[in-house]
Amino acid sequence: MRKTGIVLVAALFVTMIASSNALAQRGKPKSGRIAPSESGITAKDDAEKKIIDILEDMYKNQSKGNMNVPTSDGRLLRLLTETTGAKHVVEVGTSNGYSGIWFCLALRKTGGKLTTYEIDAKRATLARENFKRADVEDLVTLVEGDAHKEITKLKGPVDILFLDADKVGYPDYIEKILPLLRPGGLIIAHNTTSHGKYMDKYFDAVLKKPEFETFFLHVDSAGVGVTMKKY
Ligand SMILES: C[S@@+](CC[C@H](N)C(=O)[O-])C[C@H]1O[C@@H](n2cnc3c(N)ncnc32)[C@H](O)[C@@H]1O
Repeated sequence: MRKTGIVLVAALFVTMIASSNALAQRGKPKSGRIAPSESGITAKDDAEKKIIDILEDMYKNQSKGNMNVPTSDGRLLRLLTETTGAKHVVEVGTSNGYSGIWFCLALRKTGGKLTTYEIDAKRATLARENFKRADVEDLVTLVEGDAHKEITKLKGPVDILFLDADKVGYPDYIEKILPLLRPGGLIIAHNTTSHGKYMDKYFDAVLKKPEFETFFLHVDSAGVGVTMKKY
């Protein structure tokens, strides 16, 4: 009798854990290398659906060699842009425009613009085509060339700086854009987990200055550093 009681309590306990896990999983965005369609994202209207369809196509047919952010990071970029009502996002490292289009999902709602830099002519051409296909080309200024040089010509204010190019170059981009970044603005750095070993100077730059508050997200994937310039 006592044995049956123990078995029953154990079974109840296992069921409770299983159902609480199921609840926790429901609606939870999946992370890692998955297609937008597998990520749980839903479109509110036809325009959003069209953009997500282009992202899906890019994921399926252009991922190879273009070093795009994982879908979960794309969703995070959109979320941070839309919640902060960003009007000017600056991206270093356009590639074929995949992360840029995630930004545009938000910018078409905030009334904002994206300035994005790409040194590789082939990828820049592909990005222009993709921005057009997604119908967001009016939101984007693509600057072709070395961003270390080109970015010094930029005019502010900047709401979000997204770094996804040469990893050792992050501190230089931060130094150059910081005077243009509005208080409360964000510096989002990609690959803080996957390439962290090359990024000591970036970590010093964002963690040791009292004017910044920095947090790391998606640490079990490529890693995303989010730094706020304090008011
Ligand atoms: C990781 S990929 C960017 C991926 C893109 N953000 C996405 O998720 O779709 C890095 C890109 O940065 C570009 N890049 C590297 N150094 C650069 C520089 N100094 N100026 C501008 N672009 C640069 C590379 O050519 C490459 O296309």
